[in-house]
Amino acid sequence: MAAQLKNIFEDVYKKFMNMEQSRELPAKLDKADIQTISREDRAKAGWISPVYTMSRKVRLDMKTLANNRCAAVFPCTAETEVYKVLRTRILDCTKKNGSNTIMVTSALPREGKTLTAINLSFAFAKLFEQTVLLVDGDLRQQDIHKYLGYESDRGLVDYLLDRMPLSEIMTWPGIDKITLISGGRLVRESTELLITSRMWELASEMKDRYPDRYVIFDAPPVLTSADAMNFAQMVDGILVVVQAEKTNVDDVNAAISLLPIEKIIGTVLNKFAPTR
Ligand SMILES: Nc1ncnc2c1ncn2[C@@H]1O[C@H](COP(=O)(O)OP(=O)(O)O)[C@@H](O)[C@H]1O
Ligand SMILES: [Mg+2]
Repeated sequence: MAAQLKNIFEDVYKKFMNMEQSRELPAKLDKADIQTISREDRAKAGWISPVYTMSRKVRLDMKTLANNRCAAVFPCTAETEVYKVLRTRILDCTKKNGSNTIMVTSALPREGKTLTAINLSFAFAKLFEQTVLLVDGDLRQQDIHKYLGYESDRGLVDYLLDRMPLSEIMTWPGIDKITLISGGRLVRESTELLITSRMWELASEMKDRYPDRYVIFDAPPVLTSADAMNFAQMVDGILVVVQAEKTNVDDVNAAISLLPIEKIIGTVLNKFAPTR
């Protein structure tokens, strides 16, 4: 197992970063003097710009996003570039075989899954010819909408239990090419809910509905419940977040051994501080 883990670390990208600086992002942005490509020019280059009339609209506050380290929403920060590298590596692994559903997990709580899923989604939404749907897949704890700073009374559980239509649980955060599902009811019996046929049908619909869409699931940790293992059955690829200098290698090995190895796209080394 140790050899297998070594391979995974060598073969895939790592995200070397620590986002302590994110709190200062808006100030830094004001000073940026590189131009953003105009809408007209984007359209000429093939920019897909769907109009999300069916989705509920919320407005995100940029300062809240910066405070909560959702750094990749901003156009020109060091963090955004790192997530673009991560995005590129994922595109390399997934484009050729039609994989477009990805889950982000880790061995244990608090290693950075949710923040990685959010920032990766913002990075995907910046691609000219792709859209992205970010789904909060932790049915016991819905955090995405909290990081993004909006209230939400509807999410996956409401769809699965209350038969709420998909269009009603989808939120458009006012940012081009990204929609979100996060919030609403929490349930203890999440594992059982995840293996219902309604969940399987939903995962399949999400995958097939729009060929130009990536679906990113923020999944629970692998070692605290069976949920991540069940999620793994429904997606094409799996990213495993590892917290630098914190996650125990035995825990990473144990988590990886519980996931389908052929689906693991790679690991993301999170909270790495290069100056240490
Ligand atoms: N790269 C990072 N740099 C600094 N803090 C981070 C980073 N990634 C996550 N965090 C912080 O770690 C905590 C846990 O992150 P979170 O994404 O909620 O973890 P998980 O979803 O794995 O439970 C949060 O306080 C978050 O702000
Ligand atoms: Mg989380």
